[in-house]
Amino acid sequence: MCGIVGYIGTKHAYPILIKGLERLEYRGYDSAGVAMISESGGLNVYKAKGKVSDLKAFCEEKDTTGCAGIAHTRWATHGEPNSTNAHPHFSASGRLALIHNGIIENYITLKEKLVSRGIQFRSATDSEVLVQLVEYIMQSNGIELLEAVQVALHQVIGAYAIAILDREHPDTIICARQSSPLVVGLGNDEAFYLASDASPIAEYTDKVVYLNDGDIAVLQLGQELKVVNMDNETQTPNVKQIDVTLGQLEKGGYPYFMLKEIFEQPSCLRDCMRGRINVDADRITLSAVIDYREKLVNARRIIIVACGTSWHAGLIGKQLFESLCRIPVSVEYASEFRYRDPVIYPDDVVIAISQSGETADTLAAIELARKAGAFVFGVCNAIGASIPRQTTTGVYIHVGPEIGVASTKAFTGQVTVLSMLALCIANERRTIHGDQYKEMVKELTQIPAKMELALKTNEQIERLAPIFTYAKNCLYLGRGYNYPVALEGALKLKEISYIHAEGYPAAEMKHGPIALIDSEMPVFVIATRDRLYEKVISNIQEVRARGGRVTALVTEGDTQIQKFADHIITLPDTMDCFQPLIASIPLQLLAYHIAVCKGKDVDRPRNLAKSVTVE
Ligand code: F6R
Repeated sequence: MCGIVGYIGTKHAYPILIKGLERLEYRGYDSAGVAMISESGGLNVYKAKGKVSDLKAFCEEKDTTGCAGIAHTRWATHGEPNSTNAHPHFSASGRLALIHNGIIENYITLKEKLVSRGIQFRSATDSEVLVQLVEYIMQSNGIELLEAVQVALHQVIGAYAIAILDREHPDTIICARQSSPLVVGLGNDEAFYLASDASPIAEYTDKVVYLNDGDIAVLQLGQELKVVNMDNETQTPNVKQIDVTLGQLEKGGYPYFMLKEIFEQPSCLRDCMRGRINVDADRITLSAVIDYREKLVNARRIIIVACGTSWHAGLIGKQLFESLCRIPVSVEYASEFRYRDPVIYPDDVVIAISQSGETADTLAAIELARKAGAFVFGVCNAIGASIPRQTTTGVYIHVGPEIGVASTKAFTGQVTVLSMLALCIANERRTIHGDQYKEMVKELTQIPAKMELALKTNEQIERLAPIFTYAKNCLYLGRGYNYPVALEGALKLKEISYIHAEGYPAAEMKHGPIALIDSEMPVFVIATRDRLYEKVISNIQEVRARGGRVTALVTEGDTQIQKFADHIITLPDTMDCFQPLIASIPLQLLAYHIAVCKGKDVDRPRNLAKSVTVE
């Protein structure tokens, strides 16, 4: 959702804040703003509708001096995207500036109370209520900022990561978190950095503190980091070392992060497997499985909770766990699960899958599962995020920061981790034969090289893409392990090219969607040579018979499908269960090139945000 950046130190704050916003722009980009305490002691706040580049242009002739500041890139929840609703928001007197990520659920009640006491609001946001409330409490009780923040937060219901700058105390930033992420970076020169995730901090320091829910941090120049809670009890900050290289945060010569991330999948998956699959490629070791063997091996059932692309990875996980481990699995949209009254047994294993580790719905589903006494396991990418901290154990996918809003490498990383997990548990449960286990582990290690071959389809796909830019609707068909690949291919196209697309199990098409098929409808079929191959050929013929235009993903050496398809894209062969790792690549490339042909901003698709920290 929104991105937060802060800096207090001895350097010029503005360039650090702007660079930080650029790194966080994937979180939201409908407006941006910055507040700094200038050299002359004034509190300068500049805001602009649009992207960070618009804010930069707006600030060109302005006073951007000062060594302390906060900045924000917004993804609107309350109030349309414009410069008034952009953050930072001021207090009534203009003394305080505040940035906020999250949603204040009781903001109407709080606002009415403040309005009745004569405070005038400028924006339509829920966030402004925080800064007005804090100043009102300071003034009416004659107390300092920290105490006023503590009193104010006791009255607030909702999710927040906030940072406040006080004109009267230019050496201090106060920040707080509840259900929205916030990271403090500890600079070598006594400076403090602040951000929604570690990416804007990584180039300055590798020492960070991930704030916990309820933490209020005081970043005061020349002082140690002070963390307290709302009741002013001191909390001990847990300093962590981060390991993010600058190269991981930059485009590395690619026009978009999405393309870079598609192309880095082979090396990401090697990283994901490194240290987990041994050199002889005959054994997988996951420490979480060693530490919690009994829980995992004796699971009565697995419930997977996730959203979006991570949910699609979960659908593949279901097939893996059921077929290899013989454990029944249900895959739930976290957003639905949390509001149902689901049956959860204490001997259930709940697997939460999330790239960002901050998705509000997935976090809420985890809480529900924990309350029901289930064992909760996380599959996450962002190190130190809320989900890995709120699950009992888990496995990081280790694919490096994913910045493109449309998820690509996280999906294949999640499928790889789920494959390793299913193989480990199946081996422990003895539900697969030792030879089959070894053969599958070996094949998994071959996947990065096969992905490299699949990436060679890029030029062909780039040539094909213009044909599909006219389409208003597209259908993606697949069966078995390739059905979730069809869903994921359709989601990628929708997200970045704004073409309506549906993923469907190929055999279900005749129960309805077949009515949509005509010569205007591109149909993408994943028809790799697996146990459902012959059936998929029949489905392709059903499409052809109705004038549909078929582009088929086929296995190298296939000679049958070209007779029925308008276009074929050839992929290396692999086992059925690993096919999603290969077949998703051309579909990612297809969505990417169609969006580029249509002139869309691939890394910043409209209305989307990378990390959905509101429900
Ligand atoms: C799609 C996409 C989203 C996310 C979803 C869950 O490309 O990125 O659908 O997959 O918002 O996010 P995480 O995995 O961070 O929980």
